Amino acid sequence: MKWPASRMKSQAGKGYGMYETAATLQSAGIDVIHLEVGRPSSVTPAHIREAAKTALDNGIVHYGDLQGLAPLREALATRYCEERNVNYEASEILITNGVTQASYAAFMSALDEGDEVIVLDPFYPQHNSKIRLAGGTVVQVPLSMIKGMYRLDANRLEDAITATTRMIVLINPANPVGTVYTREELEQIAQLAEHHDLLVLSDEVYEYIIFDDCTHISFASLPGMKERTITVNAFTKAYAMDGWRIGYAAAPEHMISVMRQVTMNTTTHPCVFAQEGALVAVTGPQDCVRAMVAEDCERRDLVVETLNSIKGITCNVPQGTIYAFPDISGLGIGSDELALKILQSAHVAVESGAFYGRQGEGHLRVCFGSEKYERLAQGMQRLKASLG
Ligand SMILES: Cc1ncc(COP(=O)(O)O)c(C=O)c1O
Repeated sequence: MKWPASRMKSQAGKGYGMYETAATLQSAGIDVIHLEVGRPSSVTPAHIREAAKTALDNGIVHYGDLQGLAPLREALATRYCEERNVNYEASEILITNGVTQASYAAFMSALDEGDEVIVLDPFYPQHNSKIRLAGGTVVQVPLSMIKGMYRLDANRLEDAITATTRMIVLINPANPVGTVYTREELEQIAQLAEHHDLLVLSDEVYEYIIFDDCTHISFASLPGMKERTITVNAFTKAYAMDGWRIGYAAAPEHMISVMRQVTMNTTTHPCVFAQEGALVAVTGPQDCVRAMVAEDCERRDLVVETLNSIKGITCNVPQGTIYAFPDISGLGIGSDELALKILQSAHVAVESGAFYGRQGEGHLRVCFGSEKYERLAQGMQRLKASLG
């Protein structure tokens, strides 16, 4: 019997990198400090958990709206208008199982066999496997190192555009490099999208996790861009709701109606009482988000400082996200080998930069959002000792 279908053999991605290796070590009783997986260290704020519990107790347990809970879509549309200057209607929002399903639905809806999709390297690999599953071809365009940060090089982007390019994937703030793109960079992408008639998938899952004086700009808010943008987002990071699996896509109605056919035929709609919790996340107090970001900022500083104190490593200061992306090339050892060495000798799990593209080689990705401060500090000390 033939199993599985051929497109699954090579296109569906390699799994979750270091996470599985670290989990194996942990199941053997070893105390592993997890700085590889992008999972918030906090639990979901109490008022959000309460809302989901109340919904469950009130019998919100049956099938719901296929596009997602209407008040949740309305609340998200209002938020986009007020905070991001994008006039989405509730009918232009599709509630999904995280960004994962939103982006999958977008690629499945937008791509025909052989369409090229540009991703900026270093990239988030899970987008690439979905692009391939949808029949698309991934084209990697390197970001450029400018003043210590990976930034957009519009010339490189333009050079990569061909007659078969269909879409550009933008992650802003960017995992794994921690860049928050400026208005000027976004305008350069917008000009190219307009000129070459391209779609843009704008992954904004880290929109609230920004530091210092950075500002996050939603790509769809740029003049003329709402019509060609699919914004994907989720409650995953900012509200520590990764296990709830609630996200959304926002796009013009004609795009959403096609994407809804993908979600309808896979999972129908996400869990109804989890959506009730998400509604309260949007409409309730936001000080929980500010408090978690302040903690992230302290942990960022600890990680960057410790990494920079190790001979052979240099680490820039991420502007957003929960990741540091240190350059380890001065150690004279490859990224995969180093990540494994750190896991085996320090029992600290970090990702190899090579997992994130050609430009990622010579780097590690260290998540500073996944462990509380004390444990993170312990992890960084172990890591430093293992390299000293
Ligand atoms: C850039 C980016 N997009 C999407 C996701 C997945 O989001 P979700 O868990 O909401 O599906 C992640 C998770 O780390 C991410 O870093």
